[in-house]
Amino acid sequence: MIRFEENFSLIKYNTFGIEAHSRYFFEFTESEDLRIFIQNNETLREENQLILGGGSNYLFTSDFKGIIFHPNIPGIRVLDETATHIWIEAGAGEEWDQFIEYCVNKGYGGVENLSLIPGKIGATPVQNIGAYGIEASQVIDTVYGIDLTNGERVSLSASDCHFGYRDSIFKHDLKGKIIVTSVVFKLSRFPEFKLGYGAVKAEVERLGEVSLRNIRTAVINIRHAKLPDPKELGSAGSFFMNPVVDTEIAERLKSNHPNMPSYQTGEGKTKLAAGWLIEQCGWKGFRDGDTGVHKDQSLVLVNYGKASGMEIYNLSEKIKVSVYEKFGIELNREVIVI
Ligand code: EPU
Repeated sequence: MIRFEENFSLIKYNTFGIEAHSRYFFEFTESEDLRIFIQNNETLREENQLILGGGSNYLFTSDFKGIIFHPNIPGIRVLDETATHIWIEAGAGEEWDQFIEYCVNKGYGGVENLSLIPGKIGATPVQNIGAYGIEASQVIDTVYGIDLTNGERVSLSASDCHFGYRDSIFKHDLKGKIIVTSVVFKLSRFPEFKLGYGAVKAEVERLGEVSLRNIRTAVINIRHAKLPDPKELGSAGSFFMNPVVDTEIAERLKSNHPNMPSYQTGEGKTKLAAGWLIEQCGWKGFRDGDTGVHKDQSLVLVNYGKASGMEIYNLSEKIKVSVYEKFGIELNREVIVI
């Protein structure tokens, strides 16, 4: 199935629930549709282009003057299995959390800690989504896509993807050049349960035995308690990334703020908690009109109703300035501002 529309409303295609329009919108359910479209539309190839999956990582501050590609390729299939592992290919349009439910049901381990993260399969390698001690890069085996310059099929191994914290080659050398069409995950029949994140361990213990199902339920419970459901309150999850700074800088800050959370990430670097820094600047629960900072997690900016993208952007600028003034730390947005 393909759909090609002009002046397309994006309100249902971004989890902030911002009203904006795209000049063109192309949705497809097979990678072959995309190949044909690209090879037959030279003029559209000159347009600004944007790849939009679940829309959980974009903030539209104006209309998009170009073409949006919306991969809606379905399908989850087992490619290969051994006594210990299983390789599963999922289409870019599958909901990430439904894929996790499928894996947990079957007893395949590796993605359970990433439960309830909004978005679709196609975004998982781009963002290298991560939570509760796991990153998608740990289970991604191969990424298939279409090259937007010529419509040809491409495949990348995990090492080709140059994964980092919320980072991959799709945000750098291949930015805007490849549309992910499917991802192959390597999952385990004998999973090592990841309970390093204290709150997950405590919740699993409360639920009973350590199992894939209980880890998934624990993560869902924790996220429900702390993070807004984008279906009820517009947001894009973490608006900022946690800053990674020289350990020296972190130590200096810690001497003034002994309670500041920090995690050594190796190579003389330390990750700070942006949510904590923002809360210390007094933003937690802040509201101005329909924009605000979530009451339980300061990393999350919210749209209480009819906020514009620009209003949310302006709030994020004020937050950045205040964190810089108080701590000398520059926050970077995780959300992509259009
Ligand atoms: N904290 C505060 N105040 C806040 C928020 C956090 O003091 O308003 C403190 C917490 O108490 C904790 C520390 O900051 O000591 C870290 O907080 P938390 O464990 O909630 O995680 P995070 O670093 O704020 C990251 C991810 C989340 C992910 C969680 C859990 C990023 C940008 N965010 O948040 O991802 O769910 O860890 O692993 O790395 C998302 O990407 O949308 C997302 C929610």
